[in-house]
Amino acid sequence: MGDISFTPDDSLYKYRDSLSENYTPETIVGRDSEISQYHSALQPVINGETPNNTFLYGKTGVGKTAVTRYLLEQLANDADQFSVDLTVIQLNCEGLNSSYQVAVNLVNRIRPAESHISKTGHPQYEVYDFLWNAFDEIGGTILLVLDEVDNIGDDDSILYQIPRARSNGNISEAKVGIIGISNDLAFRENLSAKVRSSLCEKSISFPPYGATELQAVLKQRADVAFHDDAFDNEVVALCAAFGAQDAGDARKALDLLRGAGDIARAENADRITENHVREARDELEREELMDGIANLADHQQLVLYALTTIEAEGETPARTQTVFQRYEELCEIAGMSCRTNRRVRDFLSELYALSIVESSQRNDGLSGGQYRDHILNHEIRLVVNGMSDLIDRVGIYQSILSTIEEADNVMISSTGDPSTTPN
Ligand SMILES: Nc1ncnc2c1ncn2[C@@H]1O[C@H](COP(=O)(O)OP(=O)(O)OP(=O)(O)O)[C@@H](O)[C@H]1O
Ligand SMILES: [Mg+2]
Repeated sequence: MGDISFTPDDSLYKYRDSLSENYTPETIVGRDSEISQYHSALQPVINGETPNNTFLYGKTGVGKTAVTRYLLEQLANDADQFSVDLTVIQLNCEGLNSSYQVAVNLVNRIRPAESHISKTGHPQYEVYDFLWNAFDEIGGTILLVLDEVDNIGDDDSILYQIPRARSNGNISEAKVGIIGISNDLAFRENLSAKVRSSLCEKSISFPPYGATELQAVLKQRADVAFHDDAFDNEVVALCAAFGAQDAGDARKALDLLRGAGDIARAENADRITENHVREARDELEREELMDGIANLADHQQLVLYALTTIEAEGETPARTQTVFQRYEELCEIAGMSCRTNRRVRDFLSELYALSIVESSQRNDGLSGGQYRDHILNHEIRLVVNGMSDLIDRVGIYQSILSTIEEADNVMISSTGDPSTTPN
């Protein structure tokens, strides 16, 4: 073993942690319209009026949490200046799957450690009573941020109990407003009318970022993270362009920039190049896809395998029925009993929801009927890598073997006896 000593390396990075999730940027860029709506929704607080209940929604990584932290910090400073008695309580609801659990967490957040209540065993009304008392004890204006609030699922009574607590006479001292945040678009749709009317007095939608906005976000962060001569605008623009393609998610775009920086550093490069970005993207895409595929059950993977073999033949988009037939063939080869046509349709929908497969609804002009067709959302080679365990068991399909050989221009050795290689 050679030299394994570690020496600090600050050649590219000035402050790498600024690209991580936990870093709070000093300013928010590219969200002017959302910030302006949010600002008006919070205005009553500084006027000493009852705060609006506000609901923020938008896909993952679009700045909901970052903008909230940014605005609430400003609000807290200004409240100080204008002597408004404001308390902000931020709770991430991850892992809290009922109103009861949220209420217990809030009570314990407010109470000192020695009077924390236990997480189970209290009747629901009692926990709410504790909560009302805790709110009244704080008094003034209380803003309650419930981030990732969709975790509470259907058990959402707290979302109308709190807004009504004052009119129901449960609290008298405090004015409480809720800010609910969610990236689950169905959650908002499925809220009962009762909850929606109280929680969504103001609703603010955060759309995915476009390339220009992402570029601004990344540039600001790259200036903090890297030395000036370690990157250029092309690198940032490329990360932003990929980010815009990948659902306009700033978190992913930042991961990509950090990935590129790490690859450049590992290579002892003087600066980050577009090639480093492309390599980092491949790596991230591979990891994401691997995770996605590894979590699929056997039959889901077989359905994906079936579509992959068809894609390798150049026959995609392929109809559900075509995928089903190839799946039946693979089941037979694998000695597994087939799931029904209907189940296979569900599997395809799930693969679509995971962005592993792209599916479209088509109209059949002649018969007037409708059908869906499917195509892989990633390179064949990546998908095949993700399914390597399954393929070892089932055997590598001829069309896939040829595609990979063509792409690599190298022979890959098929494991197992060639006579068991299907087709
Ligand atoms: N407009 C912006 N300016 C600067 N940084 C931003 C901006 N938008 C997002 N970011 C950064 O991108 C990352 C993801 O943003 P954020 O955590 O706010 O996403 P989110 O919408 O809350 O996503 P999720 O629904 O997954 O919680 C964070 O590191 C955040 O600092
Ligand atoms: Mg968030």
